[in-house]
Amino acid sequence: MSKMEVKTSLLDNMIGVGDMVLLEPLSEETFIGNLRKRFEHNEIYTYIGSVVISMNPYKSLPIYTADKVEEYRNRNFYELSPHIYALADEAYRSLRDQDKDQCILITGESGAGKTEASKLVMSYVAAVCGKGQEVNKVKEQLLQSNPVLEAFGNAKTVRNDNSSRFGKYMDIEFDFKGDPLGGVISNYLLEKSRVVKQPRGERNFHIFYQLLSGASDDTLKKLKLDRDFSKYNYLSLDSATVNGLDDAANFRTVRNAMQIVGFMEDELQSVMELVAAVLKLGNIEFKPESRVNGFDESRVKDKNDLKEMCELLGIEQSVLERAFSYRTVEAKMEKVSTTLNVAQAYYARDALAKNLYSRMFSWLVTRINESIKAQTKSRKKVMGVLDIYGFEIFEDNSFEQFIINYCNEKLQQIFIELTLREEQEEYVREGIEWTNIEYFNNAIICDLIENNQNGILAMLDEECLRPGTVTDETFLDKLNTICAEHQHFESRLSKNSKFLTDHSLPHSCFRIQHYAGKVLYRVEGFVDKNNDLLYRDLSQAMYKANHSLMKLLFPEGNPAKVNLKRPPTAGFQFKASVGTLMKNLQTKNPNYIRCIKPNDKKASQVFTDSLVCHQVRYLGLMENVRVRRAGYAFRQAYEPCLERYKMLCKQTWPHWKGPAREGVEVLLKGLEVPEEEFAYGRSKIFIRNPRTLFFLEEKRRQCLEDLATLIQKIYRGWKCRTHFLLLKKSQVVVSAWYRRYAQQQKYKKIKSSSIVVQSFIRGWKARKILRELKYQKRCKEAVTTISAYWHGTQVRREYRKFFRANAGKKIYEFTIQKIMQKYFLGLKNTMPSMSPIDKTWPARPYLFLDGTHQELRRIFHLWRCKKYRSQFTEEKKAIYEEKLEASKIFKDKKALYPSSVGQPFKGDYLEINKNPKYQKLNSVMDEKVLLADVVNKINRANGKGAPRIFLLTKKKFVLADQKTGQVKASVPLPDLNSVSVSTQSDGFFALKLKEGTPSAAKGDFLLSSDRLIEIITKLHRTGAASAERETIGVDISDEFLVQFKQDKVCVKFIQAGPKNGNSVACKRKNNRLLEVSVPSP
Ligand SMILES: Nc1ncnc2c1ncn2[C@@H]1O[C@H](COP(=O)(O)OP(=O)(O)OP(=O)(O)O)[C@@H](O)[C@H]1O
Ligand SMILES: [Mg+2]
Repeated sequence: MSKMEVKTSLLDNMIGVGDMVLLEPLSEETFIGNLRKRFEHNEIYTYIGSVVISMNPYKSLPIYTADKVEEYRNRNFYELSPHIYALADEAYRSLRDQDKDQCILITGESGAGKTEASKLVMSYVAAVCGKGQEVNKVKEQLLQSNPVLEAFGNAKTVRNDNSSRFGKYMDIEFDFKGDPLGGVISNYLLEKSRVVKQPRGERNFHIFYQLLSGASDDTLKKLKLDRDFSKYNYLSLDSATVNGLDDAANFRTVRNAMQIVGFMEDELQSVMELVAAVLKLGNIEFKPESRVNGFDESRVKDKNDLKEMCELLGIEQSVLERAFSYRTVEAKMEKVSTTLNVAQAYYARDALAKNLYSRMFSWLVTRINESIKAQTKSRKKVMGVLDIYGFEIFEDNSFEQFIINYCNEKLQQIFIELTLREEQEEYVREGIEWTNIEYFNNAIICDLIENNQNGILAMLDEECLRPGTVTDETFLDKLNTICAEHQHFESRLSKNSKFLTDHSLPHSCFRIQHYAGKVLYRVEGFVDKNNDLLYRDLSQAMYKANHSLMKLLFPEGNPAKVNLKRPPTAGFQFKASVGTLMKNLQTKNPNYIRCIKPNDKKASQVFTDSLVCHQVRYLGLMENVRVRRAGYAFRQAYEPCLERYKMLCKQTWPHWKGPAREGVEVLLKGLEVPEEEFAYGRSKIFIRNPRTLFFLEEKRRQCLEDLATLIQKIYRGWKCRTHFLLLKKSQVVVSAWYRRYAQQQKYKKIKSSSIVVQSFIRGWKARKILRELKYQKRCKEAVTTISAYWHGTQVRREYRKFFRANAGKKIYEFTIQKIMQKYFLGLKNTMPSMSPIDKTWPARPYLFLDGTHQELRRIFHLWRCKKYRSQFTEEKKAIYEEKLEASKIFKDKKALYPSSVGQPFKGDYLEINKNPKYQKLNSVMDEKVLLADVVNKINRANGKGAPRIFLLTKKKFVLADQKTGQVKASVPLPDLNSVSVSTQSDGFFALKLKEGTPSAAKGDFLLSSDRLIEIITKLHRTGAASAERETIGVDISDEFLVQFKQDKVCVKFIQAGPKNGNSVACKRKNNRLLEVSVPSP
């Protein structure tokens, strides 16, 4: 263990006291109170020195985990709080390291937790011992032997649902390294009477129920069994199912465990056949049959079960049947056959069933031993685990209880011997003077039972073997005479008059004062049970069976080996095996686990004082404590002792340099512990009285408190100081930063103020300088002006005599001349282009030239236009003249005009003299055609137009059919009065004729043409050209009258709305109105 690891002790965090030896004051009350207190806190383990008391918690506690195993592994016994693991570890380690064979003796009454404790020990040892394939297999086999034996040897009783009905001692063998090699199991006295009869509320052995619930249908059929428990006389029905027990699942577990342990499939089958045979046997019934000699002879009632049983075991049915009716007695080489009555037949049947089962159980143990036995012959170390029935005191105690209690007396004896011897040996080892210890030695009770001459068992055997009538009563008589004087034997009929009037002691009973209390035994059945008789005919019948196991189980049935000697009695056998066991145990170092049952209800958290008190008494636990305390109550090696108490003395605290023993001596001296209270051993200090230990503990506690206060004090001081230092450090940092900040602010303020002051001063200085400079400048200017004037005056005064009177004028003219010259030369270089439409003109240089400049521009423009015109040919001139005329007529008057400006006036659009189509028409024309085009003649009736060719010559205009070229109308121009057009962009025009002319008879023409501007201009020009005629008037108005034959029709132009589309539409509104809608441009 490293130095830093925290060492705990049994004495730390104790609930009550962990070791009863330390109980102060010691009385039964405080003892039970301590157990109770610990039990209530789930502390189920308590020590008496090295003995572990285990209370059954009746609930699973989280104290058997792998972590716990690790915690207890390789730790000293008193180092941790009491635990069964501590004992197991101690035992295992002294076995492994000190080469001491160990035995673990587990005692306690039924349901106190012995079997569980034994399994815990085994599992702990399995967990801590070596590992490896072979080792693991051995471990597994050892552990798996438990479920097998429990299935066949355990049963539900009123006290325990899984009560072991046999005693078990198992030697686990280890090699020198501490790895398990194998084991040997011994079994003691199976309670075989249970096979044929169970007390109320109890069951037969588990295996019967497990087989019937868990086996497959197929298996059951093979075994000729029925799943229904109620079919079998040997199975008690009222408690066939047990809460929390799953028989079917357990059956699988058992089968599996048997396979792991090493049972062959056929062995398994044979065992199951035997179990089935026992069940069948129970169902065989008998009836009486009268015989001539007046006696009743028994006969098998229903042979079916008998037959099936015989088939299962391979027995000849008739042989067995006969064995149930007759009995052969051999005396002096003569065989005499007597008949059996029904009662005897039943007795024989049950005896057979019991023997069959118990022998099978013993065979199972042997078979398991074969499997688990160590394979090597080398020396082995052994750890024995004894899980044996505890002391039993019932209301009705019989032969079994007698035997069991005898066994417990023997165990107590060995306990006394071994503990005292151990104690003694330790004192010798440690060199301490041995003081005699007063204790009750139960050797005298053992002697009463087992003495070879006049012990109870010997007398029972004697009685059983005696010729003549032997009954339980004769046996009791014998006891009464022989044991009457024994101080632990009580009987009403003994000569000792003390019990003559004791009514609690019936006549058919005797009482023994066992070390654990008085027990009353009823003698009834003692003889029978001790005899354990099985008729020879039956054993011979069994021997003859054709079944692999039967010959092994009933060797006495072998006719070749007829042995007339009676088989040893049960009592004799038991005594012998107990004797062997005791011898075996004596060679080993004992470890005790004393199991206690807290209540009768199998309930957790219930602690019944009276019940526990009873157990404490008969387990002799008080004795145990006293024996333990008789010498020295407490012992501890010097090192841990010094380590624990060194703070109690200045010399040893905090470190003792020197041997631990001397340290402890100094310590105890310093504490002024009386000399007689302790003794110094070689390696241990022995403390006589628990009080002294508690005194030390109390001192230690106080000292620890003081130390804790000291540590706290120092720690708090340290904490405060570090905190203060930290604060101080922080404060310095904070103040440094603050000072820096404050200085920065101050500096900034000073800086800004100085800048203000500076700026004011600079401003003031600058202004002063500026003023000065301005003054100087003014002075300079004044000087210059004055000097200029002065110079001027001087010069004029000087030169006046040289100038003529008009010299100024001349200079002026010269200057003007120069300017004009420069102006014109400049103008010449910046002349605009010759295009009449170019509007650019250089800017004027002098204001006084404004008029001249504009005039020059106008002149230049006129000149340039003239130049332009002078380039024109005659035709082009005519065209322009025409265009000019059109402009005069229409510009700003008709909306159609602007679109015509860009179109050249072509005149002959039809090429009338070239186009052969118009040849005829051309021939009619005698003059040059000025204009030929197609126009629309508007029909007055509907406003629709019809195409006409319009021709114009110098003298007339002609309208001709477009297709035929036939002339429709030819009107001399003088007959044309005027032309009317609208102001809008339409092409309508009316040619109005002079009234009274021949042409006017047909009425005016309303025409339309896209080339209206050209047509009307040409008409106007042609008319104007002939001097004799007045010009043709052009009326531009949106409403005019047109003369159609007789009527005058008004033509009105309106602006069309947007929905009327883009084309000009003419509609007749009524007789006198034609409406032309013109789309807005
Ligand atoms: N340590 C334990 N933790 C939890 N339960 C326990 C413990 N010990 C015993 N028990 C419970 O008590 C029951 C009885 O225990 P166990 O079978 O070991 O008693 P026993 O002393 O062997 O009795 P018997 O003498 O009848 O065989 C167990 O089945 C289990 O339920
Ligand atoms: Mg048990």
